[in-house]
Amino acid sequence: MPGEGAPNASLMFIGEGPGFNEDRQGRPFVGAAGQYLDELLHSIGLKREDVFITNMVKCRPPNNRDPFPGEISACSGYLDAQIEAINPAVIVPLGRHALARWFPRDSISKVRARPRTFDGVTVFPLYHPAAALHNSALRATIEADFAKLGALLRDRESQGAPAANENPDEGSGSQQLSMF
Ligand code: URA
Repeated sequence: MPGEGAPNASLMFIGEGPGFNEDRQGRPFVGAAGQYLDELLHSIGLKREDVFITNMVKCRPPNNRDPFPGEISACSGYLDAQIEAINPAVIVPLGRHALARWFPRDSISKVRARPRTFDGVTVFPLYHPAAALHNSALRATIEADFAKLGALLRDRESQGAPAANENPDEGSGSQQLSMF
């Protein structure tokens, strides 16, 4: 399950791995967590078509167990190629597995919604939307964190950066890409 979205997205979300529904449909974040992600995107004026959405691992871990480190490393070249091709300005790791790619020693509860720059790319970690579905106490936090992401995007645009789906390096057009 490779991922999908706008080839010119300047905003990229990286989850953990496909679950049951994603595995059946071949699309990322289409189950309950995905519906919540759609709502969160909507809350900051975005649609999923505006961004690129993928996962750390491209195959469903059996019974939705956590991906093993060897599975994450087996898929990492694929993810590298996706990041290189989309060339996003802002990457949002969703949850601890994606977080570990950039912040291997940090916990998501400490670094969530604290942007850091890596090679010119802003990395803005957030709780995984499924975490808020399992623990309703996290909902207000993830919603406030998304509002901070929205503010960061607005600040970037007011400084002349392109909107979420207007990455100048990747051409224009609203064609959706799911071939990665
Ligand atoms: N959870 C993820 O991490 N990724 C998906 O695609 C769906 C649920």
